[in-house]
Amino acid sequence: MTLGGLDPDRIPEHIACVMDGNGRWALAQGLPRTEGHKAGEHSLFEVVEGCSDLGVDWLTVYAFSTENWKRPKDEVRFLINFNEEILVRRREELHERDVRIRFVGRRDWRVPKRLIRRMDESVELTKNNKGLTFTIAFNYGGRAEIVDAVKQIVEAGTPADKISERTIAKHLYDTDMPDPDLMIRTSGEYRISNFLLWELAYSELLFTETPWPEFDRQALFGAIAEYQDRERRFGGVGG
Ligand code: FPP
Repeated sequence: MTLGGLDPDRIPEHIACVMDGNGRWALAQGLPRTEGHKAGEHSLFEVVEGCSDLGVDWLTVYAFSTENWKRPKDEVRFLINFNEEILVRRREELHERDVRIRFVGRRDWRVPKRLIRRMDESVELTKNNKGLTFTIAFNYGGRAEIVDAVKQIVEAGTPADKISERTIAKHLYDTDMPDPDLMIRTSGEYRISNFLLWELAYSELLFTETPWPEFDRQALFGAIAEYQDRERRFGGVGG
């Protein structure tokens, strides 16, 4: 037994989170949607710290999707600034926790240069850390990731009969990243929403009604306990 009564031998290696429900949580309290994102920062760090303490190796969170540009201009601007602000305000603390920060997503013209600089600085600062790898999916879309991989494969002149699943996997945004064992989505939506489409093929999917701003360390441990109760067969018949 380890922290939270979990089996230390079956801690997921990689957890992916869709941090959903910030807007609805805020509106339910009579607050503007952006207050929900602000409250979500606390949950994010509860999960980062919980994962670090449990010895989870990889945590990936969906911070901004390729579809999020469709939100009202003010909210898009808020989310971009908020991501940058969190990064700058908390990267030293993550560094001290031995967290390695990484990003996945498209770096197209819509992503401000300054944010790209902040991202690169954060990756550089933490690149030799050996604790949790914390990947932030920003301007990320699962279909876009597969399209970008296929483009590179075609540009390299790879013959069709040489293309396998491994070829695609080798051209995804982060080739070191293992597939998630567990994907958690908060706030009662039962969708993948274009998150890690290739990588989630065999992941355990866990949906909870708890809105992201109320998701904490205990909720994380509860999700991992449920994961540990499931049997993963990867298309086989199990043992
Ligand atoms: C979904 O809630 C949440 C987001 C679009 C973004 C959440 C972002 C953070 C908590 C900051 C992350 C920052 C870093 C540096 C990783 P929603 O607005 O879709 O909620 P709703 O479904 O209730 O509308």
